[in-house]
Parts: sequence; C-alpha cells; structure tokens
Amino acid sequence: MKYDFDQVIDRSGNRAAKYDERIKKFGTNDVIPLWVADMDFRTAQPIIDAMKAKAEEGIWGYTSRPDSYFEAICSWQERRNGWKIDKNLVSWSLGVVPALSAIVKIFSNPGDKVMIQTPVYSEFYDVVEAWDRIVLENQLVEKDGCWTIDFDDFERKAKEAKIFLLCSPHNPLGIVWTRDQLKKMAEICIANHVLLVSDEIHSDLIFHGKKHVPTAMVSQKIAGNIISCISGTKTFNLAGIQASTTVFPNMETKLRFDRFWMNMDIHRNNAFSSVAMEAAFNEGEEWLEQLLEYLDGNFEYVKSFCQENIPQIKVNVPDATYLMWLDCRALNMDNEALRTFMIEKARLGLNEGCTFGRSLTGYMRLNAACPRSVLRQAMKQLKEAIDTNL
Ligand SMILES: Cc1ncc(COP(=O)(O)O)c(C=O)c1O
Repeated sequence: MKYDFDQVIDRSGNRAAKYDERIKKFGTNDVIPLWVADMDFRTAQPIIDAMKAKAEEGIWGYTSRPDSYFEAICSWQERRNGWKIDKNLVSWSLGVVPALSAIVKIFSNPGDKVMIQTPVYSEFYDVVEAWDRIVLENQLVEKDGCWTIDFDDFERKAKEAKIFLLCSPHNPLGIVWTRDQLKKMAEICIANHVLLVSDEIHSDLIFHGKKHVPTAMVSQKIAGNIISCISGTKTFNLAGIQASTTVFPNMETKLRFDRFWMNMDIHRNNAFSSVAMEAAFNEGEEWLEQLLEYLDGNFEYVKSFCQENIPQIKVNVPDATYLMWLDCRALNMDNEALRTFMIEKARLGLNEGCTFGRSLTGYMRLNAACPRSVLRQAMKQLKEAIDTNL
C-alpha cells in the first residue's frame, strides 16, 4: 500500500504536546511546531487496525505481555540489524527515558559522575542530575560542519565516570557511529569499569546507505558491559503509547532493574501499548521504508532551500533521526536573541541548541518529520524574517 506523507493533519486540539503546549513552550500558538521529536504523520495501517480491534474488545483490564510481544521485538532486531537477543535478558518500561533514569539510579550513587557526549538529547542531563549525580561532558567537536569524538578527552573523563550514556545514533547531530568508534568507546569503558548504556531509540531511522550497529553486537566482551535501550516509538510515531525495551548483559542486572519497577508497582502497563508495538514490528516495515524515503526528501529540501536562500544558516543533513541541526552562528545572536527571533519574527517553534549542549551559542534543532508543504511554509517564514530583520 502507498502511504501519503503529504497529507496535512491538524493535530491541534488532539492533545498533541507538540501543538497544545506551544503557549507553555513558546508563549504563543502562532508558531509552526517543529520541536518535540514526534512526527506529523499517521502511523502504519496495520498498527491502526490492531489498535481499533483492541478498542472494540471493550474490556481493558490488567494486561500481561505475551511471549509474542517479546518475539516481535527480537525478530525485528534480528531482521534489521542481525542482532540475536537473548529473550531472557529483555525487560520493558514505559519509555527509554524512564529506563535511563532508573538505570542511573540503580547503578550509581549520589555524587557519582555520568559521562554524556554533548550536544545531546537534553534528558541525558536531566536523568543524571535528577538523582544528584554529576554530568561529565565529553563534548563532541565540530570541524567544517562535521562533528566527531574527542577520544583523549573521552579517555580522561572515563577514568572518573561510573556510567556512560551513549546516544547511538546521535540526537541531535544525526550521527551513525561506526563499528570502530563504538568499539573504541566501549573498550575504554571496560578498561575503566564504566557501565555503558546505549540509547538506540533512533536506530531504525537511518539514511544515505549508513548502517546502524547495535553496540552490544560489536563484540562478545563488549556485550557483557552494555545495557541497551531500544523502542519502536520513534520509528512508528507511537511515543504517546509509552513503551520501550531494555536489554541486559546478564540476569543480575536485569533483576535489579525489574525489582526497581516492581517496587514502584509498575509491572504492567496500558492495554494498548504491547498490541501497537507487536503490530509495528511484525507488519510495519512497508510503511517505514516509505517514510524513510519521504524524510530524506525533506532533508534535501531544507538543505537546498537554505543553501540557495539563507546561506547564513548552515544545515546538517542527518544520517539518522528526523532532526536537523541548524548552525545559525552567522546571524550573530546570543541564545536569547536567537530564540526570540525564531519565535517572534520567523514564527517557528524550534528547540534551542543550548538545551543539548549548555555551552553552545547559535544553534537550533528543527524536526523535519512533517509534510513537505509545512516545511515549505516554515522556510518561507524563515527567509522573510531574515530578509526583513537582518
Ligand atoms: C535519544 C532519545 N532517547 C529517548 C527519547 C525518548 O524516549 P521515550 O519517549 O521512550 O522516553 C528521545 C526522544 O526524543 C530521544 O531522542
């Protein structure tokens, strides 16, 4: 079946945070929302059908997770990434962020240091600081628009860290880490007794012939030191149903994680989430392939529009995720001025770069997962704002 990603769907009033929290986030509803990482596309038809059938049942009592749910996840990973997961070492939670937060709490103590590679998804700071742990930034370094790892700094910081939270592939820079980079990071962690936690939530959204390598697949030895967080919620636009999967290196770590959720009395979750995820992994591939092609077209559009019309803004075309990192430093604005400019003049709701890397000035993140006509309007507004105000 052919999906229509050009269809514009008015999500305002449907409880979508991206739309209905604009006042809270930007102080106005008059911005095109290109911020929080969900998509303005309807999901795959088999998922909608499975959810409808579940709704029709009319009874949504306490719900268990059948083996078929875990089989769907494992089979997806094996098919897409060649990763054979031991089903006995798999747990689930309400989301990758709740899982990361629990992992920080369970496997470190207050005052311990947790390394992250900035700029990075801002919740990486939050889940560390929430539990009174200390963020150690291994800042990624930029040269001519390409970002990479400062391994000397990584090695130095690893000596102090208890946990390393890796974002693979990387949000917001859209980097697909190579096997060699993963191996090097993982081996430094092992040498320094640092637990490596690999957030792979974006790993199905890969472009330009790149290949995602699950960190746990790099080597047997490395797999013994990794907790992997995966999910289909980014892939299939299901963040609101709240589901994720956590893969442990051994039974001891898995049981500690499970006990935490048991103690919170969160050992089931809503009746719809496992149904949606199972349908997604078993029947969603066709939709995903079409989505990836459409998103790539969106990236190309934004990139060439800016090159031709707004050369002051340098656009990073991501190899993964649907998030574009905009280098706006040539506009010569501090972060507050840039934020105000984007909201009030361009009427765009973007994420500020300084929330991903606290020491950065002059960057913005744009969520390109929307119909192309919306991006066209957004680019038009941005160009007009620049032409009239700068
Ligand atoms: C790297 C990364 N991890 C986790 C999440 C959110 O995960 P969840 O909704 O499952 O908590 C996001 C959402 O943007 C993300 O970019």
